[in-house]
Amino acid sequence: MKQAKLHVEKDFRVAQVDDRLFSSFLEHLGRAIYTGIYEPEHPLADANGYRTDVLKLIQQLGISHIRYPGGNFLSGYDWKDGIGPKAGRPRRLDLAWHTIESNQFGIDEFYDWSQKAGTQIMGAVNMGTGTPKDAGQLVEYCNYPGGTYWSDLRAKNGHKDPLNIKLWCIGNEMDGEWQICHLDADDYGKKAVEAAKIMRWIDDSIELVACGSASTMQKTYPEWDRKVMEYTYDYVDYLSLHRYYENEGNDFDFLASFVDMDRFIHTLEGTADYVKALKRGTKDINFSFDEWNVWYQLKQKAHPWQEAPEILEDHYTLLDALVFAGMSMTLLNHADRVKIACLAQLVNVIAPIFTKKGGGVLKQSIFYPFAYLSKYGRGTVLKPVVTAPAAESRYGETPLLQQSVVYNEQEKTVTVFALNIGAEEMQLTLNLRSFGEVTMQEHICMAGDLSAVNTFAQPDAVVPKQLPVQQGTLRTCDVILPPQSYHVLRFQL
Ligand code: AHR
Repeated sequence: MKQAKLHVEKDFRVAQVDDRLFSSFLEHLGRAIYTGIYEPEHPLADANGYRTDVLKLIQQLGISHIRYPGGNFLSGYDWKDGIGPKAGRPRRLDLAWHTIESNQFGIDEFYDWSQKAGTQIMGAVNMGTGTPKDAGQLVEYCNYPGGTYWSDLRAKNGHKDPLNIKLWCIGNEMDGEWQICHLDADDYGKKAVEAAKIMRWIDDSIELVACGSASTMQKTYPEWDRKVMEYTYDYVDYLSLHRYYENEGNDFDFLASFVDMDRFIHTLEGTADYVKALKRGTKDINFSFDEWNVWYQLKQKAHPWQEAPEILEDHYTLLDALVFAGMSMTLLNHADRVKIACLAQLVNVIAPIFTKKGGGVLKQSIFYPFAYLSKYGRGTVLKPVVTAPAAESRYGETPLLQQSVVYNEQEKTVTVFALNIGAEEMQLTLNLRSFGEVTMQEHICMAGDLSAVNTFAQPDAVVPKQLPVQQGTLRTCDVILPPQSYHVLRFQL
């Protein structure tokens, strides 16, 4: 059996986790909005057309912010098409996803929906076909108190009080050649600065996110990030990072995805600190990892022009959930710099929640690791001393154990998230002596048939199990991690 050790010291602190690390993303894409969260004809829809069964599941995830309305969709979207009386809204071609956008759902509907979901909005302004002027007008529409054209129009459209959207993305993946009106780093950097100036003049309390690299696979990574931060250092608060992984045929490489994600963040920390030094600055540029997930991009197919087509509807296996869990631990371990992270996406489109049009709703396998991240990942991330076996993956030397430790001082709990990516059992020894005596409260585990998937016929094919806990008080603890398994180990101080 493989052996691993975690020596946890309560004073070796990384950072307090920002609540916005538990955020998500809804784009006008496929069935995310239409027949996802909004389906007026559905028997469980409320008076506004919002699916209450979907709302209930979203509430279980404890989500902080939801990024909206895109994604690639953003770069061709005119937000003005989605306001005012619904009958007068234009039907448009969405060039990003080759679909027809009815515009029956826009920023006012999303605000009302967010109030019901108990989430806040992370807004986004179009830097593709959009101009800095449009961006300013959207901020005026959303946040200006009243007495101007756009703020009065908002009141006329049902929201007398400002929507108060305090966090904004300046564009989406502008480094991607697939993006509508893609820009190079110099052109994006200059445009983002001009948009930021206008947006902040209208509301100086907002926080801004500039586009970083869309993936570690981008040819322009990490030069793009350096250049963009050099332009925007004085104007923005965060750099956005995106990364999706898929199984390209080797399960171990796929399970090792967290290694690449970890290096991505580590590299950009260095890049951001370089820019800070260059600028003789004092502030840190932190990160908004506002798209992360497993996504089977290689399986995408062409489809005809259509409203709300069934696209990007990945059905996640247990293996996908394990990879996802590994990524979630990387985000926690970088809590000192990653202040915002959005699970991309939330409903139907590469999502933890899956709906049937006119029918039921389903928890996908990745629902569970996200729910545990959000429930038990709150507190202070600690940096344990880790001894673990390693093996070679496509990313080089790869630890077989991924872990993260969160100390919640208020609740007097310690949670150890652990992932064994190896094909053998692993004995994990936890040294928790610095906390004195603790009791083990819970051992949650996901393991088993890696290809299992939840379906409407078998909604519980992939669910976490509760394993027996060690009885009595303890200072150290040995736990057996089966091959390829995810664990949440909870201790009370
Ligand atoms: O989340 C799906 C797509 O992935 C988003 O629209 C885009 O930003 C990214 O490439």
